Amino acid sequence: MSRSLEHRAVIDRLPSRKQFRRDVIKGLNREQKTLPCKYLYDARGSRLFDEICEVPEYYLTRTELAIMDEEAHNIASEIGPEAVLIEYGSGSSLKTRMLLDALDDPVAYVPVDISQTHLSQSAAAIAEEYPAINVVPVCADFTKPFELPYELSHYDRRVVYFPGSTIGNLTPRRTCKLLRQIRDLTGDAGGLLVGFDLQKDRDLLEAAYDDAAGVTSEFSLNLLQRINRELSGDFELDQFRHQATYNDVAGRIEIELVSQCEQSVEVSGRSFTFDAGESILTEYSHKYTVEGLQSLAARSDFGVSRVWTDDRNWFGVAYLTADNS
Ligand code: AVJ
Repeated sequence: MSRSLEHRAVIDRLPSRKQFRRDVIKGLNREQKTLPCKYLYDARGSRLFDEICEVPEYYLTRTELAIMDEEAHNIASEIGPEAVLIEYGSGSSLKTRMLLDALDDPVAYVPVDISQTHLSQSAAAIAEEYPAINVVPVCADFTKPFELPYELSHYDRRVVYFPGSTIGNLTPRRTCKLLRQIRDLTGDAGGLLVGFDLQKDRDLLEAAYDDAAGVTSEFSLNLLQRINRELSGDFELDQFRHQATYNDVAGRIEIELVSQCEQSVEVSGRSFTFDAGESILTEYSHKYTVEGLQSLAARSDFGVSRVWTDDRNWFGVAYLTADNS
């Protein structure tokens, strides 16, 4: 029953080259230079991220998988029958399958992804493996409000699945905004299943974001390489060093590319100067406590109805529902 896949318009919502240029120039003109982390994921960046998930220091993916493996049935019974599962991002195929396998009679699966290519590939695979589930891919930027396909709007139990600690990239402000949008989409009968990373020892956190094999460093530096290629930049990659620092006040890993000398760099005909030691902030990765997550949820009219963690309490999967208290 791949009927639902055939008539979708093929629209890619990936930011255009023009948008990339605007964002890069704007970010590099700021007092604290920044680059948006969404641009880390070009083809090579996506491959490198997959490799990060395999390095021994990066415990997140493997721990979340272990939680899903252990708790899928408890999670499914918390969610309830006949859910429309809406996944933000369509990359996490294994976790998705674990959830779909455990859910009681799910009616539809809606992967939402900004990349049409990722989306159609993963949607087609799921549609083939789960013939009883209506697979309805939506090409959209889930950080902005979007409409569910009309054919699904009459199902009450709409559940957003946001795995992988992707939420950690957002500042608390943006997180609240996103949670409110999800709250609007899922209504009173649905919920949000979210994977989030827990606060822990600085050493463990910093190692997870600066692995000994140097894959994470490659991943960060790839952004400069992408700018060189796509925006005629002349970043010298060996003049920048990847650095991951845990800010325990803000509860987040801050990833920066630190200039190793005083230098000037051209991007798309513009010139930017760096002092020695000056950095470009490329990524935040927030780490939570369960209480912290509860207060974020409360600010968005959600309540945390359950949290599942691993034995070491390194990672959490929470189910948030309408807070009627
Ligand atoms: C994809 C956002 C979950 O924050 O752990 C991993 C990205 N960056 N190593 C994370 C990332 C460097 C990752 N997320």
